[in-house]
Amino acid sequence: MDVVEDLVAACVQAMTETEPRSAVREAVSRAVADPGLAHAFGEPRAGFDILYRSDELTVLNFTWPPHMRLFPHDHRMWAAIGIYRGREDNQFFRRADGSIVPSGGTSLDERDVLMLGGDAIHAVENPIGAHTGAVHVYGGDFVAQPRSQWDPRTLAEEPFDLDVVRDEFARAERAADAGRSLDAEIPPTLPRP
Ligand SMILES: [Fe+2]
Repeated sequence: MDVVEDLVAACVQAMTETEPRSAVREAVSRAVADPGLAHAFGEPRAGFDILYRSDELTVLNFTWPPHMRLFPHDHRMWAAIGIYRGREDNQFFRRADGSIVPSGGTSLDERDVLMLGGDAIHAVENPIGAHTGAVHVYGGDFVAQPRSQWDPRTLAEEPFDLDVVRDEFARAERAADAGRSLDAEIPPTLPRP
C-alpha cells in the first residue's frame, strides 16, 4: 500500500476506535510527517480531490494555489487539517448579531495538525507564493452536509456551494499563473482580528 492508501485506511480504522477524533488526529499527524506523502500526491494541482467519502468520514487532499484565500464557511462536523507542503493560515469567526465576527486564528506549517469542532467557522489562506498541500479529514459527509458560507465583502450568510469553491480555486490558480495579486481583484478583504 502506498502512503495515501495507508492514510485513508488509518482514518477508516480510526472511526472504529473509542475516540475517533484523536485516532484520526494521530493518523493525519503520522501521514503529514512522512515526506513520501507530498511525493505520492505528485505535482501540485489547484483544487481538492476526494480520497474517501462515506456518511461518517470524508478524506480530502486540498491544494491551495499561491495566496488563495477562501471565504468563511462552516462544516457542521468535526475536522482534522494536516499540512504536508507549504503553509495554511486559518482565521476563525463566531456568530454575532446575525453575522460573524473574527475570533482569532492560527498559522499551520508543514507537519502541523489542527482539530476543528463541529461549530467552527473559518476562512483559509495560503500566505505563501507557492502551492500549499493539506489533508482535510471530516467526521461526516463533507459533500452532502448542508452548511453555510459567508460573502467575504458583506459577511452575509449564504448556503455553502461546492461549485463556488471550485471556481475560487480556478480563479486563484489563474491569478497565480498570471502573476497577479488576488487582493487586487477583490478590493475589500476580510476584516482582520
Ligand atoms: Fe473548511
